[in-house]
Amino acid sequence: MKLLKKISLVVLVVFIAMQFFSPTKNVSPGNHAKVFITETNPTPELKSLFENSCYDCHSNNTKYPWYNNIAPISYWMSNHVNEGKEHLNFSEWDTYSLDKKDHLLEEIEEEVVEGKMPLTEYTYTHGDAKLSENQVNDLVEWVKQTRIIYQLGKQPK
Ligand code: HEC
Repeated sequence: MKLLKKISLVVLVVFIAMQFFSPTKNVSPGNHAKVFITETNPTPELKSLFENSCYDCHSNNTKYPWYNNIAPISYWMSNHVNEGKEHLNFSEWDTYSLDKKDHLLEEIEEEVVEGKMPLTEYTYTHGDAKLSENQVNDLVEWVKQTRIIYQLGKQPK
């Protein structure tokens, strides 16, 4: 049992030491997804859907829960956010080409229809981020209309 005590002590010390380090937070003030919203013009319901279910990992502004202050949870979340933003960042919509926007909309539809997004790890703790069938249908309809805008934008070439 002596060994077990020693191991517990080491684990405790490491855990405490970890608390002195934390990854940089993903926060930015102001209207961070402005271009995305003006360009794609979602209904107020869809706008809230993105805010409640997607922006935490796909924008430059995450709303952190209190437990994000605990390491290693903070690192785990930081990884999710960084990885999510690499694939799709609503705050950087203005930097994407028409092709990319069109493709991302297709991906958004796919991920949501297949129930892959928002991630299940996220909806465990954010029950209100789960999407209803109606929300998914509205999103699919909006994607269809919005992709036409980007596809028309491509035509003059
Ligand atoms: C908890 C964080 C989190 C939330 C919330 C979240 N995502 Fe993601 N998303 C990720 C991560 C991480 C990836 C990259 C890895 C993967 O595909 O699983 C990703 C990838 C994606 C991709 C790219 C897929 C690809 O194959 O390139 C799309 C599109 C996407 N998410 C859409 C959404 C939409 C739409 C929502 C809201 C309905 C959402 N995500 C909510 C974390 C999240």
